[in-house]
Amino acid sequence: MKIGILGTGNLAVTLGQAWARAAHSIILTGRNADRVKAAAEQVGATAMPVEPDRFAEQADVVVVAIAWDGLEHALRLVGGPDGTLAGKTVIDCTNPVDFATGRVLPETDSAAELVAGVAAGAHVVKALHLFAGASWPFVGEAGTSPVVAICGDDGEALSQTASLIADLGARTAVLGGLAAARQAEEAAGFVMRVVAAGANPRFAVPDVDPALLGTGPADR
Ligand SMILES: NC(=O)c1ccc[n+]([C@@H]2O[C@H](COP(=O)([O-])OP(=O)(O)OC[C@H]3O[C@@H](n4cnc5c(N)ncnc54)[C@H](OP(=O)(O)O)[C@@H]3O)[C@@H](O)[C@H]2O)c1
Repeated sequence: MKIGILGTGNLAVTLGQAWARAAHSIILTGRNADRVKAAAEQVGATAMPVEPDRFAEQADVVVVAIAWDGLEHALRLVGGPDGTLAGKTVIDCTNPVDFATGRVLPETDSAAELVAGVAAGAHVVKALHLFAGASWPFVGEAGTSPVVAICGDDGEALSQTASLIADLGARTAVLGGLAAARQAEEAAGFVMRVVAAGANPRFAVPDVDPALLGTGPADR
C-alpha cells in the first residue's frame, strides 16, 4: 500500500520508517520542500518526497503528522477543502494539547473532527496519538503488544487503520465513532501528566479484564 504521510517531523519519519520496514511504499509532503526531501531520506531509499498538490492523488491512505497549530494549513496545502482526500482513509495522529498542562486546546470537538471538517469527504480515523513514533514497530511477544485506541465513522477506514496498526505490531480497540475523538485526545494529556509526574502511564490505569465484563478482547 502507498501510505501518504502529511508531515516532515519526528512522527512522520518514525512511522514512515516502521511502515517501510513492513514493505509499504511511503510518500511524504509538507510546506517546505527541503524538509520534505530530508524527511524522505531519513525514512529510507524507498520513500519519495512529493509536491503538496500531487500528494492526495498518489496516496492510498493518508496519515496526518502535523503540529496542532499547523493542522488546518497543512490540510489546505494538499487540497483538502477541494475534496482531494474524499473517500480516502485519513489517520489523524494530532495531539491538540498544551504540552505544559496536558489541557486539550480546542474548546469543543477535536483535532480529528477538524480534519474531517477541512478534508471534505475524507474518512477520518483518530489513531496512534498516544504512542511515541519511536515505539514502532513493536517487536515483543504478541500477547503483550500495545493496544491502540481508534475511533471513526467509516467501517472500512477503521479496518484499514487496524491493518496498518497490525503492521506496526500492535492491536486495536475501536472506541466508537469520530465523536469519541475528543475523549481519546484528552487521554493524551493525562498520559503526559503521568509521565511528567515520574510514573509509567501503563501502570496508571486500572487493570480491567474485558472477559470478566463480557466485552471480549481487543479487536485484533
Ligand atoms: N513525535 C511523536 O512521537 C508523536 C507521537 C504521537 C503523536 N504526535 C503528534 O503528531 C504531530 C507531529 O508531531 P512531531 O513530533 O512529528 O512534530 P514535529 O517534529 O514538530 O513536526 C511538526 C510537523 O508539523 C508541520 N507544521 C507545523 N506548522 C505547520 C504549518 N503552519 N503548516 C504546515 N505544516 C506545519 C511541520 O512542518 P515544518 O517541518 O515545515 O515545520 C512538521 O512537518 C503532533 O500533533 C504531535 O502531537 C507525535
